[in-house]
Amino acid sequence: MANDIKHIHSYYSPNDLYSRIIEGLTEIGKDLSRVTLDDLHPVDEFHIRGTVATKELIKLSGFTSDMHILDVGCGVGGCTRRLSHETGCCVTGVDLSDEYIDAAQRLTQLLDMQERVKFHAASALDMPFEDSSFDGVWSIQMGMNVEDKSAWLKELHRVIKPKGRVVFYEVCANNNTPVYFPVPWAQDSSISFLVEPASFRELITAAGFEIEVWNDKTDLAQKAFAHMKEPVGEPDLPELGVHLLVGKDILTKAYNLSRNLNEERVSLIETVALKP
Ligand SMILES: C[S@@+](CC[C@H](N)C(=O)[O-])C[C@H]1O[C@@H](n2cnc3c(N)ncnc32)[C@H](O)[C@@H]1O
Repeated sequence: MANDIKHIHSYYSPNDLYSRIIEGLTEIGKDLSRVTLDDLHPVDEFHIRGTVATKELIKLSGFTSDMHILDVGCGVGGCTRRLSHETGCCVTGVDLSDEYIDAAQRLTQLLDMQERVKFHAASALDMPFEDSSFDGVWSIQMGMNVEDKSAWLKELHRVIKPKGRVVFYEVCANNNTPVYFPVPWAQDSSISFLVEPASFRELITAAGFEIEVWNDKTDLAQKAFAHMKEPVGEPDLPELGVHLLVGKDILTKAYNLSRNLNEERVSLIETVALKP
């Protein structure tokens, strides 16, 4: 494993993740034989604006029940499962973190969705799939951890069928630097590789895609984080939340994200691109 990939892997590597999610569900009084997609969203939709954004992206994607979609950087599989649930399509999720993939598989079994939703631990830059294997791809807030964006985008282009669409929802750089750390996707700058929206657009087209939709969602992200205050003292965290994925300093990370958004140090882009 290359050094930067090792750092990324260790950032997203909590111990015993599945058991801790189950403990959280139990503590908030959920009956484990009746857990729903919505019960899991505080912990399994790890991106700005959570389920609301996932639903918007599903609408935008145009993905349908006859398709097989690849979710690249799927985390513990919240968007993977929701995409399959809402459209009826089969979805395969890939993530670098074996711990996340283990939790993703076991949560999918808990919801009895394993027929149509599968997972593999692999790097987005070198995926174990034949050329033109998938009808569509989506990748939700993973690209900011990828230094070699060109290799990542070419790999997506390789595995998607001609006429297939790829959906991205990515944090990009903005007018000002530096970014305040830690942020939800990185403890420090060693695993955060943000490019400006215009460069991201160029990289997508250079990989062979045609941009069909390009939306700047920074203002919605700012609104979503507007309530964040600088945390003081021991954090008061819920039983179930993304702190289980990336640590107890999540409130500091969210606060820094709100500062980065408000001070135009980061932006949020939603885009759909076509492989001609
Ligand atoms: C902020 S999380 C987003 C997870 C998920 N897409 C979601 O929205 O809930 C970023 C994810 O990207 C994964 N990741 C980062 N670099 C990766 C790479 N090179 N290959 C595969 N996954 C990667 C991390 O392990 C992590 O699960």
